[in-house]
Amino acid sequence: MAALTLADVLLAQRTLRAYLQPTPLHNYPALDAVVGAPTWIKHENYQPIGAFKVRGGIHFMAHLPADQRARGVVTASTGNHGQSIAYAGRLFGVAAHIVVPEGANPLKVEAMRSLGATVHFHGADFEACKRHGRTLEAEQGLRFISSGDEPLLIAGVATHTLELLAQQPNIELIIVPVGGGSGAAGAALVAKAINPAVRVVAVGAEGAPAGYLSWRDHAARSAPIQTFAAGLATGEAFLMPQAILWEKLDDFVLVSDDAMRHAMRLYLEKVKTLAEPAGAASLAAALAFPELVKGRRTALILSGGNASLEELGAVL
Ligand SMILES: Cc1ncc(COP(=O)(O)O)c(C=O)c1O
Repeated sequence: MAALTLADVLLAQRTLRAYLQPTPLHNYPALDAVVGAPTWIKHENYQPIGAFKVRGGIHFMAHLPADQRARGVVTASTGNHGQSIAYAGRLFGVAAHIVVPEGANPLKVEAMRSLGATVHFHGADFEACKRHGRTLEAEQGLRFISSGDEPLLIAGVATHTLELLAQQPNIELIIVPVGGGSGAAGAALVAKAINPAVRVVAVGAEGAPAGYLSWRDHAARSAPIQTFAAGLATGEAFLMPQAILWEKLDDFVLVSDDAMRHAMRLYLEKVKTLAEPAGAASLAAALAFPELVKGRRTALILSGGNASLEELGAVL
């Protein structure tokens, strides 16, 4: 497969225009004071499913060949990717099967079901779900959708960065959360193509460092998953986004679950907006690593707002 380029993302943007509005990019002076730099928030929590992943799902489904549309699709998800595929499945009339871990966020499971997807509970974590998804693919002839190693998903989610650089062309730093790495790979691909001087920094969970270790070592690494941030809870690297990150990412930091909780509270207090743990990770990184943001016009990807009431209660 040819390497993804800015042209692929421009095409994705054109496809998505019929289905999604651009999300707002706002500056909040009350937050600037806490972060210590002029900061813009990219509100992917205002997407129709409450997370940026919907960009990838719709783009993928729009290009799915007719025979695969007729057979249906299967994917593994801790929540938002599954919602994205369910949303896109409904949009294009494709049967969607989503494998989720036993303890998946009930809010996200309910959302997938209400979008018409069939939800399969399987195993304790994302890795077990992926294996079961492959089994369903083999047994039922469904098209398995990898949440990371899928160029149409990466080009789709990358449109968030295309959009934000059009909204605020003088951004100097973008901080973007990483689970499988599609969002960060897309951000780095777009930012470096438009202006190589823009720094792109990825943030992962200390409790799920597989993505960070794979980036650091330029090789696939796996690691245990011990984080409450479902969107960042990936135990094995996805090599397609990693290859882009190896080439284009400036830095990769890890934050604790406590730092994400604190950032969720700040979003509620200063921005009056709801971030889920993964969505709050970019703000957590800006606070934990002040030298990264100091003096730089910074964009934080607030990647999702699907916190369950239990999560929110515990955080407050
Ligand atoms: C809210 C949220 N943020 C960040 C991520 C990480 O995205 P990626 O898997 O593209 O690295 C996810 C993944 O599901 C997510 O749901």
